[in-house]
Amino acid sequence: MFMLSDADLKKHILGCSDGPAAFNAGLSARGGRVVSVDPVYQFSAEQIWAQIERVYPQVMLQMQQNADHYIWDSISSVEVLGATRMDAMQQFLADFETGLEAGRYLTASLPDLPFGDRQFELALCSHFLFLYSEHFSLVQHIESMRELCRVAEEVRVYPLLTLDGKPSDYLPAVREALSTEGIETCLQTVDYQFQKGATQMLIARA
Ligand SMILES: C[S@@+](CC[C@H](N)C(=O)[O-])C[C@H]1O[C@@H](n2cnc3c(N)ncnc32)[C@H](O)[C@@H]1O
Repeated sequence: MFMLSDADLKKHILGCSDGPAAFNAGLSARGGRVVSVDPVYQFSAEQIWAQIERVYPQVMLQMQQNADHYIWDSISSVEVLGATRMDAMQQFLADFETGLEAGRYLTASLPDLPFGDRQFELALCSHFLFLYSEHFSLVQHIESMRELCRVAEEVRVYPLLTLDGKPSDYLPAVREALSTEGIETCLQTVDYQFQKGATQMLIARA
């Protein structure tokens, strides 16, 4: 979804809002340099697993009800999606303790990140900013993008749609606010689409 090249994967990467996903575990196993931040890392692996088990049936039911919002080709059904997500979460959980000790998983929440200026070459944020526009305000979006651009040379965000599949109203205002601060943004079409219409990522460079 982020069009990551081999050169990108060699960069020092910040995974923001990574949650219980497998990106950090997979890239670290390949020798990549990645730090993930998410508020959920304040909990233990057992607590995160208990939460996953608790919400899993509800999430699957919602996916069934909203199935026509998604494109079912590479992932053929809700059941396959559930199994794929569960596999990724197991990979995360198996890596979590080791990654915590190595400083690869840190508890932090946008819009404040515990990093120095330009500490990372690339920051990635998937399925949080813009997607949760109903729960995270425009001001929080602007502050978050500003903060990501402070800590990383380049920031990529995907998707740019809200949970109901509509373009986030915040996108133009966020881009305008960044522009007035000298941060250039562009939209790039990606080679991934699961949520219907989620064809673009936002790229920001200070
Ligand atoms: C839908 S999940 C996305 C997980 C992962 N990026 C993915 O695409 O599979 C959204 C994540 O955003 C995290 N989150 C919630 N509030 C946040 C905040 N203020 N700053 C950063 N992450 C936050 C949640 O804990 C959750 O892990």
